[in-house]
Amino acid sequence: MLRHSLTVLLVFLLLGCQSLSSSRSLFDELGGMPVIEKITDNFIDEISFDQQIVQHFKESDIDRFRAKLIEQICVEAGGPCTYSGDSMVDVHTKMNITEAEFNRTVDLLINAMNKAGVAHRTQNKLLARLAPMRADIIYR
Ligand code: HEM
Repeated sequence: MLRHSLTVLLVFLLLGCQSLSSSRSLFDELGGMPVIEKITDNFIDEISFDQQIVQHFKESDIDRFRAKLIEQICVEAGGPCTYSGDSMVDVHTKMNITEAEFNRTVDLLINAMNKAGVAHRTQNKLLARLAPMRADIIYR
């Protein structure tokens, strides 16, 4: 009887943990807007330190880039935002971004997330949601 009660208890605990982890959005896991803003600011710093990547941003309105990227990360993470920027194809066309530059930019985003204290497994989830955009961004 005792063993049966313990088994029932264990099953409830396991189910509880499972629903807890699956109901938590990536947005919450990241730490919400303050951490998304921190990641974006760190990312802009990383870009400004990179001799090559920064060339693409010479003519850009960085305040706009910041605002649209925050919205986009928020939406991709399942947060309560709306993306009001242009499509990835429209934005990156005529930039001739190479695969190496794309990979380098991903490295800069990883640096930005590390500096914002985001756990690696959480970083990987965000990267997996951004990765499908690659084809819309490179060689355009
Ligand atoms: C997954 C990777 C990337 C994502 C999610 C992303 C996202 C964005 C977003 C949301 C914007 C703002 C759109 C708007 O203003 O309406 C933007 C603009 C921009 N992106 Fe990307 N981007 C990525 C990769 C890259 C790479 C690899 C480069 C260059 C090496 C790049 C260069 C730029 C530049 C220069 C702008 C500003 C365009 C302007 O001045 O209007 N992006 N990107």
